Amino acid sequence: EIAYYHDRFVDVDERVIPIQERGHQFGDGIYEVIRVYDGEPFTMKEHMERLEKSAEAIGMGLPYSREKIEALALEALERSGIQEAEIYMQITRGIHLRQHHYPDPSEPVLSMVVKEARKLTPEKRAAGVPVITTEEIRWKMCWIKSLNLLPNVMAKQKAMEAGAHEAVFVDQGTVTEGSSSNLFIVKDGTLLTHPATNAILHGITRRVILDIAEELGIPVEERTFTLDELLEADEAFLSSTTMEAASISAVDGRPLKGGRTLLDRIHARFVERTKKE
Ligand code: PDD
Repeated sequence: EIAYYHDRFVDVDERVIPIQERGHQFGDGIYEVIRVYDGEPFTMKEHMERLEKSAEAIGMGLPYSREKIEALALEALERSGIQEAEIYMQITRGIHLRQHHYPDPSEPVLSMVVKEARKLTPEKRAAGVPVITTEEIRWKMCWIKSLNLLPNVMAKQKAMEAGAHEAVFVDQGTVTEGSSSNLFIVKDGTLLTHPATNAILHGITRRVILDIAEELGIPVEERTFTLDELLEADEAFLSSTTMEAASISAVDGRPLKGGRTLLDRIHARFVERTKKE
């Protein structure tokens, strides 16, 4: 494990955040999680583009050029010596006497942690994972990868306490996404997922899966679907940087059909891509 804060590499356990850091006091910042396969960051470009979009959306500049941030991430990765890694990267609006409005000038601060990747166990990948549903209580800009994750944290905790793997937000009957993942269902051979609106994070894995589906000639519809449609789906799965594409076995204790014809085809192609990049 290795970490970076502001302008230097640090030990992950070192206490480095100044008390008036806005990420810490307001959650005033953004982040990315990038998976590394066999020493190679996967879809780095897409993550960096999303990071830039999120920064722009909150009116914040990046502390360094994209090239420099990428170079620092690669240096961190190398220093960590980890082959199957996860790069956590966050940028906050910096350190300033506490006030709500933006400091002027603001000096954004980069931090990173590189650690061993969390992986779904082969058993869970084979059997699928149970999820629970929870009321959508988040804000209307879920596409920004904001540090403000309290609703997501609370939802995930609820899932853990229920013995489930993920909590799925449901907004008046419509399934939006998981606390840290996107959702897909398959109905009569068509792959469905929530459109990339303000209501969800536009997952990079989601994008890769849609791309693979197109490559495989699988019909896709980016449209909202209801909890009932999820319960009746032929296949249902979660997608995220850490889970890749993971079958959902049950929702609120109700077993799903558990089909995985398209999921297995898509996931096999996904794994190939992680090896090619
Ligand atoms: N979470 N939706 C939410 C709310 C997320 O937090 C994430 C990712 C996703 C999936 O996005 P992607 O495919 O780009 O990882 C969807 C990361 C992994 C996290 O917070 O740890």
